Amino acid sequence: MYIKSPIPYLGSKYKMLKEINIVIDSSNVSNCVVDCFGGSAVILANIQKEFKSYVYNDTHKELYNLFKVIRDEKYELISKLKWLVISRDLHKEYVENSNNLSDVDKALRTIFLFNYSFAGDHQTSFGYRRTRKAKDSKILLEDVLKFHNKLRRWYIENQDYNDIFRRYDSNETLFIIDHPYYMSDTKHIGSNMRYDKARNEEDFSVNVKQMVDDLKGKVIMTLPDTDFYNKLYEGKYYRTETDIPYSLYKSPDKKAYFDKKEIKEMIITNYLVREV
Ligand SMILES: C[S@@+](CC[C@H](N)C(=O)[O-])C[C@H]1O[C@@H](n2cnc3c(N)ncnc32)[C@H](O)[C@@H]1O
Repeated sequence: MYIKSPIPYLGSKYKMLKEINIVIDSSNVSNCVVDCFGGSAVILANIQKEFKSYVYNDTHKELYNLFKVIRDEKYELISKLKWLVISRDLHKEYVENSNNLSDVDKALRTIFLFNYSFAGDHQTSFGYRRTRKAKDSKILLEDVLKFHNKLRRWYIENQDYNDIFRRYDSNETLFIIDHPYYMSDTKHIGSNMRYDKARNEEDFSVNVKQMVDDLKGKVIMTLPDTDFYNKLYEGKYYRTETDIPYSLYKSPDKKAYFDKKEIKEMIITNYLVREV
């Protein structure tokens, strides 16, 4: 029922789309929806409620380029994707050389590296499984086409969230906020992988909260259900629990990388969510 992003992404909220859509439906806003930390763009692409304007934002330059190319240069990307040969040599070539590529070739490189690297992290090696076939590049092609249909009228931004708040804030704006998590008592494996490490610090979360306090628009935030975030958002915010496990969790003893039992995702809003 939901469409997939052409890239698997660390921290993607694909599994929370049902819960996120219920909360969005309660927002009473229908002018502008802004995904401030858009990542794989899977949230914005699967919003069921109709808005007049859609904004994707992420500071990650490769993602920004990828979604712009899918929007504006679909045919060029598709024709190259058709001839993509999945190989270890191409992986090496793409890892070693990212310079002097056209925007379309950069987008192709991004799709390839996210899909065919170990654990989806393209700073690692070529990913393969002894127990599963390689992902067919035809599937990627279909994903790109489906995505193009969704994002062809989006505004695509590559700004710090502060600038996005300033530019788009109004009583009729809904901000979706899924920033990199700070895990005070645990080790957040995401911080060692794709996101910028400096952005995973406690201060980052506190700064976002301070900015969110002053917004005129409606806000929906996905956060791990930890003491740190519950305390940070206690008071005028509303909390919706979910059963979705936070999967990028590594316990303090560093044994359990994916201990799905311990921490759940939650949704924080600055408006009351109707019961469904
Ligand atoms: C948890 S991921 C978002 C995942 C996304 N919701 C999805 O479903 O794929 C957080 C994103 O925030 C981006 N980011 C980090 N710092 C940022 C900043 N200051 N402003 C905007 N985006 C930022 C990262 O590049 C990353 O893609």
